[in-house]
Amino acid sequence: MSLKIFRTKPIADGESTGLKRCLSAFDLTLLGVGAIIGTGIFVLTGIAAAHQSGPAVVLSFIISGVACAFAALAYAELAAAVGGCGSAYGYSYVAFGEIVAWVIGWILLLEYSVSVAAVANGWSGYFNNALSAMGMGLPEALTKSPELGGIINLPASAIILTLMGLLIVGIKQSAQLNTAMVFIKVLTISVFIGIAMFNVHPENWHPFMPFGWFSTQPDGSTTGVLAGASLVFFAYVGFDAVSTAVEEAKDPQRDVPIGIIASLVFCTVIYIIVSGLLTGVVPYTELGVSSPVAHALQLMGYNWASALVSTGVIAGLTTVMLVLYYGLTRIIFAMSRDGLLSPFFAEVNHKTHTPVRVIVITGLIMSVAAGLLPLGALAELVNIGTLAAFVLVCLGVIVLRVRQPHLKRPFKNPFNPLFPILGMISCGGLMAFLPESTWLRFIVWLTLGVIVYFTYSMRHSKLAK
Ligand code: ALA
Repeated sequence: MSLKIFRTKPIADGESTGLKRCLSAFDLTLLGVGAIIGTGIFVLTGIAAAHQSGPAVVLSFIISGVACAFAALAYAELAAAVGGCGSAYGYSYVAFGEIVAWVIGWILLLEYSVSVAAVANGWSGYFNNALSAMGMGLPEALTKSPELGGIINLPASAIILTLMGLLIVGIKQSAQLNTAMVFIKVLTISVFIGIAMFNVHPENWHPFMPFGWFSTQPDGSTTGVLAGASLVFFAYVGFDAVSTAVEEAKDPQRDVPIGIIASLVFCTVIYIIVSGLLTGVVPYTELGVSSPVAHALQLMGYNWASALVSTGVIAGLTTVMLVLYYGLTRIIFAMSRDGLLSPFFAEVNHKTHTPVRVIVITGLIMSVAAGLLPLGALAELVNIGTLAAFVLVCLGVIVLRVRQPHLKRPFKNPFNPLFPILGMISCGGLMAFLPESTWLRFIVWLTLGVIVYFTYSMRHSKLAK
């Protein structure tokens, strides 16, 4: 038994998957930017500034960004050397064995599906505002989940179904839409930067760290720059999704590392500039609202720019959902191909070259969840799961360097094992600053995963045969 659960998978060389290789380094970078910039910068920056970090939210972004940079280097090395669309799940299968791979895969399912459903809720809010501004607002019962007094959050459900259709049609088409939307969101951010640059009042940056580094409140919530860092970490979630596109990249060994690192660097620079400016133009105490960037522009008297930013947010959140939904389907596809999930999901439609069954089933489930559940509280779950995956990917780099020293590594981490170790410490540290309630939910999800593994996956694994 102990041997079985630690069986490792050999690295598949040039395995044909039926997926279509059509993405360039540029497409992959845009895919990354598409997944990264979203709720994190447009919503959480304000909440973190108002309640956790103050103007030092810029430090929170830098701390999180550094942790992600170490993880990104580890992802780049393993994506190029091990490959496979299963991302961290696939690398763990090769480095640590089946049970660890399963647990990581299970965590990734949580990360991606909860993010999509949670972001759909945020998207719906902005979309309704835009409709109302045009005098076409939906009745309230159709914009809220039952727990919040409505019947269904219709726009949240509908956007997921729309993306489902798009992903079925094909990855190239999805990437094209992604490119257009990424362009819009980067443009709106540039407009904000352009205006904010000339409206900074340095006195807003004092006191710089009103909540200190870290403290736990009597109600269990956490404050301080480090707690802020573990919250705004959500803003970086998504660069890892680039690694799920390995089997659809034209030259994965060269282009996937470029896509991962370039998209992360670009977004980190944007986050540092935007969060620094945001707390410079208005007092941090004013930023605890659902759309702090648009709100700040309004306070400065730029109503047109505020409307433009709202449009950018709608586009921005659409691409986040699109890429994370895409990543989710590819991970399930990889897990079912290995027999750990039902083989029913492992079929690629020969006309569209996409895994249609997985796309439809996950789309329907997420659409119902987004329509009927209030998902805000679950966003921190995404962070804890993603951070756990990052820690293991960093460890995977070290383990594989020892276990398979001769493996061809088109991209190598500099200063091994120092960088992966720093990645493990920084990502593990951010996990430690998350609230207890998040840890509890995470443990429940893991327990469920272990039960599924021992009742189904262990026996159906391809390696068992
Ligand atoms: N990084 C993505 C966002 O901020 C998940 O919305």
